[in-house]
Amino acid sequence: MNDQIRPQPGILDITLYEGGKAPKAGVSNAIKLSSNENPFGASDRAKEAFSKSVHSLHRYPNTDHRALRQAIGDVHCLDPQRIICGVGSDEILTLLCQAYAGQKDEVVFTEHGFLLYRVNTLAVGATPVEVPERERTADVDAILAACSRRTRLVFIANPNNPTGTMISPAEMERLANGIPAQAILVVDGAYAEYVDGYDGSAGLVAARENVFMTRTFSKIYGLGGLRVGWGYGPQHIVDVLNRIRGPFNLSTAQLDVAEASVRDQEYITRCRTENARLRHWLAEALAEVGVPSDTSMANFVLARLASPEEAEACDIHLQSQGLMVRRVTSYKLPHCLRITVGDEASCRRVAHAVAQFKGLR
Ligand SMILES: Cc1ncc(COP(=O)(O)O)c(C=O)c1O
Repeated sequence: MNDQIRPQPGILDITLYEGGKAPKAGVSNAIKLSSNENPFGASDRAKEAFSKSVHSLHRYPNTDHRALRQAIGDVHCLDPQRIICGVGSDEILTLLCQAYAGQKDEVVFTEHGFLLYRVNTLAVGATPVEVPERERTADVDAILAACSRRTRLVFIANPNNPTGTMISPAEMERLANGIPAQAILVVDGAYAEYVDGYDGSAGLVAARENVFMTRTFSKIYGLGGLRVGWGYGPQHIVDVLNRIRGPFNLSTAQLDVAEASVRDQEYITRCRTENARLRHWLAEALAEVGVPSDTSMANFVLARLASPEEAEACDIHLQSQGLMVRRVTSYKLPHCLRITVGDEASCRRVAHAVAQFKGLR
């Protein structure tokens, strides 16, 4: 160990992010319900665009992402100039930390907030400030109380992962109004498309200088493997982020497939409707066997077992049945299991296996 070669402060405090478990090779009939992926996959139009992209593999992609930003702008009625595209929304979250937080700064997020908020905060040497939630829901008063003159960023996912809960537009506006003048409120809308009629706080962003929204193609668009996300914010923030993003961060395939996907809103509507139906069914089926969950607004259900030991035993039983779900101990929810809403057959298998575990079948 060479003690003269050291990483920047904070980096060694980062716990490695672990993705959802995938079924082991050779296990037949296994289903991955651990990463909140769309069980129906990407739209046919997206697949077609991906096939076409093989013809331009030798060309560098464009650097301004104009066509994709225009498509997102058209679909969501947003100004394309104020949109930035990245390698998943992860990259946008990372760029926000790099640009706005450093040593002696604080970044605020909630107790059960997305793990990458902490990782990105520590990576730039800033101090994470974790705020308690109320019954697994963000508490605006507590967030505001945790802000200080050092706060530079406030991250909130709405709906949140892994709880599935969300706060109302009025509460979000109160949060935007209450944060300190030097802070940016980042509304992470990774699951926004699952909420019928919700704009992901785009209206709030449009009306203010201190709110930024991130979105992804990894969830309802079924493109988790492709890695595309985007952000929408005040021009001054978008201009700053564009200075530090890699000019060729997105490949032509990523750009073309995301553009085709966002233009296929009929597919997204179908996925949203089916998810809502199956999520309701799954939550009820689990509740019937004594496993409650909060009303989820996303594409997963946070099942609450009686204790961490019971959650572990249930997870082991589900794995034995080929069902890979997510333990959420690292989210301070050791007694819970996060279960992605799969297709109908998967939901039935999960419900059956949990009932079996509870000794009811
Ligand atoms: C709340 C939340 N934000 C952001 C992300 C990052 O998604 P991606 O980088 O795939 O766009 C995820 C992924 O699970 C998430 O759950």
